[in-house]
Amino acid sequence: MKKTEVPAFDMVVFGATGDLAMRKLIPALFYRCRDGQLPDDGRIIGASRGDLSRDEFIAKVREASDRFIPRKFCEQEAWDRFEARLDYLKVDAKNGDDYAALANVLNEAPDRVRVIYLATGSSLFGPVCEHLKAHGVVTPQTRVVLEKPLGNDLESARAINDRVCSILDEAQVYRIDHYLGKEPVQNLMVLRFGNILFESLWHRKYIDHIQISVAETVGVEGRVEFYDNTGAMRDMVQSHLLQLLCIVAMEPPSSVDPDAVRDEKLKVLRSMRPIEGRDVDTMVVRGQYRKGVVGTEMVPGYRDEERVSSTSSTETFVAMKVMIDNWRWAQVPFYVRTGKRMPRRTSEILVQFKDVPHSLFDRDGRGLQPNQLVIRLQPKEGIRLRVSGKRLGTGMSVRPLELNLGENQRKKQHVPDAYERLLMDAISGNATLFVRRDEMEAAWRWIQPIIDHWEESDDDPYPYVSSTSGPNAAAALLAKDQRAWDEEAEE
Ligand SMILES: NC(=O)c1ccc[n+]([C@@H]2O[C@H](COP(=O)([O-])OP(=O)(O)OC[C@H]3O[C@@H](n4cnc5c(N)ncnc54)[C@H](OP(=O)(O)O)[C@@H]3O)[C@@H](O)[C@H]2O)c1
Repeated sequence: MKKTEVPAFDMVVFGATGDLAMRKLIPALFYRCRDGQLPDDGRIIGASRGDLSRDEFIAKVREASDRFIPRKFCEQEAWDRFEARLDYLKVDAKNGDDYAALANVLNEAPDRVRVIYLATGSSLFGPVCEHLKAHGVVTPQTRVVLEKPLGNDLESARAINDRVCSILDEAQVYRIDHYLGKEPVQNLMVLRFGNILFESLWHRKYIDHIQISVAETVGVEGRVEFYDNTGAMRDMVQSHLLQLLCIVAMEPPSSVDPDAVRDEKLKVLRSMRPIEGRDVDTMVVRGQYRKGVVGTEMVPGYRDEERVSSTSSTETFVAMKVMIDNWRWAQVPFYVRTGKRMPRRTSEILVQFKDVPHSLFDRDGRGLQPNQLVIRLQPKEGIRLRVSGKRLGTGMSVRPLELNLGENQRKKQHVPDAYERLLMDAISGNATLFVRRDEMEAAWRWIQPIIDHWEESDDDPYPYVSSTSGPNAAAALLAKDQRAWDEEAEE
């Protein structure tokens, strides 16, 4: 990862003992420290309700790091340098009295950048900001990072934003969507706007359709309370999938300044054709997994999971057809899909170009395939362009070729995680890859009629067997347009 200097900082992580902090944030900070990107004046202060000493917190961090940081990257010298930055304070986000100790620690360095990372449920975002303000902790150099999901619908998202923005300027609020920090997503922007080749083909004349898929093999795991009130539409579509759609569909911004990029993403969200009322039933498919065999193990269906009601109508799968009503994308469908208990864990964007207007080769139609650009975010990041080439030999037979447009990573190299990039951006004050309030609310506004329709309906989500590609209705959504989901297996 190219190192850009970051200024002296104090980072306070609320929710520091939680899954996100231990699995993603702490390792990301460790790698940046190991790489020498963190300045000597850079403290990381964990906060949660647990009554832990600094040593006890460090022991927890160490234990988690043994699981989440491969031993070969965790040299003793690098770990010692990292550990020296760590501190811990018991702060109940809702209890004003607990903030005095935090204010004392931060006020030892009043001019430093302060990043307050809220890795907690969004109901705490307002109270934390208010208590920080009351204790004089909010300086012009303070930034607050808010984890998704922010709210549970448009109204609650607005209410949280109102509270946070009554304390902080919008420029100090960093709403994180870690998909935007993924290398291929940034590479897609470079491919689109750094090459005349792609951008000149990037519209309705040459593109047939676009697919955006995020598939997980896991079920609801231990997050039942959260998930059963959330579902795939709120958890994945409102944030990650619509953000990816914006990056694919936006017009070239005039610069990479945060507002220039976010203005263009907002225009996409505002151009998306609303799906309301009965259109929801024809344009959107929701599903819910049933029991099935994953590997060699029989796994329970969603309604059989512990603490899930046997009548729950929470969707674990969504597929939909989105139309963007502007000059560039008129009549080009964006098919968007996400689900749990899918056969493979994969996140990818597929740009399917149109057929050649007249086929000279393979008149029987066997070899000549339309060009595809595949941007894979996981499990193996990369960008590939599928084209047609000539098969070696005397005839004119055609074969598919794949051009790798990403950088080849060396096997022993650590591949930086999206959080590494985004945490450094937050410390440096670069909000380009964070979501602005109006964008986030536009995304909620767009999905709200779909959620409302489902809540008013007596219909259940379509069932699908675990470890299959979702309900048949999802395949039918594309089949009625004479198209199919890209199911190419690649690990
Ligand atoms: N896990 C992920 O991969 C992931 C990914 C994206 C977004 N998120 C979001 O990030 C947030 C945290 O997720 P998580 O999975 O880390 O949850 P988690 O494992 O339940 O951890 C929650 C953390 O918040 C702390 N906490 C709870 N109430 C608190 C309070 N009143 N004051 C101070 N600290 C409090 C908890 O510690 P104490 O109980 O000791 O206070 C714990 O450290 C959630 O909103 C989640 O939706 C998570």
